[in-house]
Amino acid sequence: MVGRIRWLDLPELCCICLCHHLSTQIVRSVMASERQGSPLPFSVTTSVTEESVRASAKRIAGQIHQTPVMTSSKLDQKTRGRKVFFKCEHLQKTGSFKVRGARSALTKLLETGIDPSDVNLVTYSSGNFAAGLTVAAGSTGIKNCTILMSRDCSPLKKTLVESLGAKVQLFTGDQERVAKPRSAVEAGALYISSGQTYDVISGQGTVGLEFLSQVPELDAIVVPVGGGGLISGIATIAKAIKPNILIIGAEPSLSNSCELSLRNGNLCQLNHVEKANSTVADGLRVSIGSNTWPIIKEYVDDVISVSEDEIKNATLLVWHYLKQCVEPCAGVPLAAIFSEKFASLPAEVINVGVILSGGNISQECMRIFLQDNEN
Ligand SMILES: Cc1ncc(COP(=O)(O)O)c(C=O)c1O
Repeated sequence: MVGRIRWLDLPELCCICLCHHLSTQIVRSVMASERQGSPLPFSVTTSVTEESVRASAKRIAGQIHQTPVMTSSKLDQKTRGRKVFFKCEHLQKTGSFKVRGARSALTKLLETGIDPSDVNLVTYSSGNFAAGLTVAAGSTGIKNCTILMSRDCSPLKKTLVESLGAKVQLFTGDQERVAKPRSAVEAGALYISSGQTYDVISGQGTVGLEFLSQVPELDAIVVPVGGGGLISGIATIAKAIKPNILIIGAEPSLSNSCELSLRNGNLCQLNHVEKANSTVADGLRVSIGSNTWPIIKEYVDDVISVSEDEIKNATLLVWHYLKQCVEPCAGVPLAAIFSEKFASLPAEVINVGVILSGGNISQECMRIFLQDNEN
């Protein structure tokens, strides 16, 4: 990829050279990105491997929670003989797995020797990555961190991010979503993408590493897909540990770029932004990207898309049977397990892992789900 920032050779450089090298690379990355819209995601490393995920796990050990795994025999009765294990990342610090990737990426960045006060970050996010990056920046001493969120984002997530100390800038529409990080990068900021920054993806892979250490007998893991960072990290490490494990993506039908890409054999990003934006699973309103697509193509076995009603129903079932307050994104993989497509998997696929990826849901949203369910 043209202009990708390569930090692998940087530790040998002195600080002044490092800053010069960095700014030259940023200019190049902006020039390359001008043709594509979004700025290129910044990353110290340029791939995701078993080793990079294991290194991330060491890097963030003690800084994040080891989240529990839950089961429900009542829910298992609904899954045609399969046993479902729920990885509770909604109980992770900041209420989602996102803090793993954020923390891992920023620690890796500071290992290059750069002074935290020279680092200027920018990201855009539906809220969960913003929360994770804000906490990670604060604890690593990085003070300049701009968070861009859509004007129609979840008010609860915006309040959460602000309460963690972030300066949130709101944007409207797709043009501003692209233009704002670009001008920040032109002014010297590093653009950290929640889905496409390799150092972040390696950090998200630690969910899979931890899950397989807790439940080694898993035959499949079902993962919600937005930008594809979570599934890419999990798939890389899970296939390295257990080559025959199935990795299945789960997406809202309204925002199904992963399904379309796997079906067509090339990266398909959604043009119908309004359609994607109307799914209740607000963290999954984005398309997979050019860094996650090759990983998904290599390691993801299949993807299942589900309707809005199926997402709501599965989310309610998690509240009801597990007594866990998860957001709709986390209902998406359970909805996929109830599908006919999942039912057609071989009977040997018995132990199935589900990632409950987040728990940042407002009381208002919960009330609407419950009311709809009564009607
Ligand atoms: C709760 C939750 N689950 C899943 C995802 C999807 O993660 P990814 O974008 O890495 O595919 C997101 C992304 O924002 C999220 O917030």
